Amino acid sequence: MIELTNITVRFGGIKPIDQLTATLKAPVAGLIGPNGAGKTTLLNVLSGFVKPEEGSVLVSGVPLLSLSPLNRVKAGLRRSFQTEQVVEDMSARDNLYAIADHVLPAAERTQSVETALSFVRLTAVADVMGARLNLFQRRLVELGKCLVGKPKLILLDEPAAGLTDEEGAVLKDLVLAIPQAFGAQVLVIDHDVELIRAMCSETMVLDYGRLLVVGPTAEVLENESVRRAYLGEI
Ligand SMILES: Nc1ncnc2c1ncn2[C@@H]1O[C@H](COP(=O)(O)OP(=O)(O)O)[C@@H](O)[C@H]1O
Ligand SMILES: [Mg+2]
Repeated sequence: MIELTNITVRFGGIKPIDQLTATLKAPVAGLIGPNGAGKTTLLNVLSGFVKPEEGSVLVSGVPLLSLSPLNRVKAGLRRSFQTEQVVEDMSARDNLYAIADHVLPAAERTQSVETALSFVRLTAVADVMGARLNLFQRRLVELGKCLVGKPKLILLDEPAAGLTDEEGAVLKDLVLAIPQAFGAQVLVIDHDVELIRAMCSETMVLDYGRLLVVGPTAEVLENESVRRAYLGEI
């Protein structure tokens, strides 16, 4: 469970997040909103790259904002980036070990890495260098990195961007299986409303840094102000 209380972020004169209070309980929760709404900034607050001017965050009851980014990873926070961060001259497997080496005792690393590789269906290309993986495989490496160790909260920033419909469907099935398989909650940003509808039982909508609405996805997507602000409808 993610509990956000009164989060405000200021960059000079603008407030990309403005007094945001919301609770997300769903195993797979969605975060949507127009470009510039503050979605990535919120993920940066959660992962420790941006320090809010005020507010607090609890993840499963544990205060997050006082922890360094590395200690957040050790506490089970994982994220993928809008531009993926696969290391090109390391194999898919070694990209996962780079996380395992930081968060697990040596004796537990191999099993955790192989479990994650298998879950994201990359075992067959585990020895292929990052540079030689296609876009989808690189996305799966990113997702696999999120599953190494003992993830508690996984933040995915537009994981399906640029994927084909078939690849997006595979990604959706994988994401939906994460809470049961790994015991982690997932928070996912995506522009594809149908993908959000299919993946997320609960969705939060941001608009200019403010909470527009949060609740069951089907209700949120029917909400009139959401349709007006985000879906371009009246
Ligand atoms: N490091 C930064 N410095 C200044 N402004 C930023 C920075 N990062 C984002 N912003 C601004 O904050 C707002 C929210 O951006 P962002 O969180 O990236 O939105 P989204 O991911 O919803 O498209 C935008 O107006 C953006 O220009
Ligand atoms: Mg963004």
